[in-house]
Amino acid sequence: MTQYVTPLVLFEIFQFHFLFVSLENGGKERFNFCLFIVLILQATVAELQEAIHKRTKKFYPSRQRLTLPLPPGSKERPTILNYKKSLKDYCDGNSGNLIVVFKDLGPQVSYRTLFFFEYIGPLLLYPIFYYFPVYQFLGFKGERVIHPVQTYALYYWCFHYFKRIMETFFVHRFSHATSPVSNVFRNCAYYWTFGSYIAYYVNHPLYSPVSDLQMKIGFGFGVLCQISNFYCHILLKNLRSPDGTGGYQIPRGFLFNIVTCANYTTEIYQWLGFNIATQTVAGYIFLVVAFFIMTNWALAKHLRLKKLFDGKDGKPKYPCRWIILPPFL
Ligand SMILES: NC(=O)c1ccc[n+]([C@@H]2O[C@H](COP(=O)([O-])OP(=O)(O)OC[C@H]3O[C@@H](n4cnc5c(N)ncnc54)[C@H](OP(=O)(O)O)[C@@H]3O)[C@@H](O)[C@H]2O)c1
Repeated sequence: MTQYVTPLVLFEIFQFHFLFVSLENGGKERFNFCLFIVLILQATVAELQEAIHKRTKKFYPSRQRLTLPLPPGSKERPTILNYKKSLKDYCDGNSGNLIVVFKDLGPQVSYRTLFFFEYIGPLLLYPIFYYFPVYQFLGFKGERVIHPVQTYALYYWCFHYFKRIMETFFVHRFSHATSPVSNVFRNCAYYWTFGSYIAYYVNHPLYSPVSDLQMKIGFGFGVLCQISNFYCHILLKNLRSPDGTGGYQIPRGFLFNIVTCANYTTEIYQWLGFNIATQTVAGYIFLVVAFFIMTNWALAKHLRLKKLFDGKDGKPKYPCRWIILPPFL
């Protein structure tokens, strides 16, 4: 149960009066929050965030989560205040009073920074195994013969992560400005470790290449899927305005006409292409893990779109589509 305890400070910024208290959550977690008693509601949510930031420098706007309080025991998600809206929009009738719950989300980084650090690791680590005498250093004796498939795999891999970095900066229109710093460490651990693990085996001196035909089929199919994946991202980009506004829309066109998360479908298939051509256990393990991660996300995205476009109140009904991997899911 949530308890409000220990009033800390009462002060005035602009037209607002803030009563700071600390919050004890179920007696376990303890984090700061403040309760705002807003007397004059001329300002926007963004101005309120700025006011908080001005008072406590570490609480820059993207670090703040402002919500409307929920009744005790409620299991619903609280309404998050939109920074563009006026505080009046959240007032109950004409009461002129508003209680806002503040939560510190902790240090944040932009999505672009997060993605950049995730992808730069595999982009730089993989070539180290190809170009540098890593295996000699690890104790392997003898000459290392580089097979054509290992060279093509290097190009394929680097193209993939370079593409992802370019898309991060020039294609994706993110709706969330930031992500917690802790995600940088978690996501980098995932990408950097898998990148090194796969690079180690594909470039290994004892690596046995697959047949020429299998290599061509694998890379040919993979490149086709990478191009399709890029096109899917362009279609997603066009659903929003350049500043990232526009919310979630029904993706249409190309593979989106049959599958909700066509970008994930093509991502999975392009890794399948890479694995057909290179054939390592490490590569297939990565494929399986990535498949489970993306399937989980795809399920959530599919449900969100179905809920958002329920065909009620003039909204379109979400069309019947596969989620990620036709004809199975
Ligand atoms: N190998 C792996 O393990 C792995 C895992 C995940 C992703 N990836 C790759 O990285 C790419 C990007 O991943 P992601 O998870 O960021 O993709 P995502 O969320 O599906 O979409 C990319 C961008 O499109 C926006 N978007 C998605 N659906 C939308 C809709 N219905 N209406 C309007 N905008 C929409 C997203 O907005 P929001 O900012 O609101 O989300 C995001 O900015 C993937 O497509 C995939 O190629 C690889």
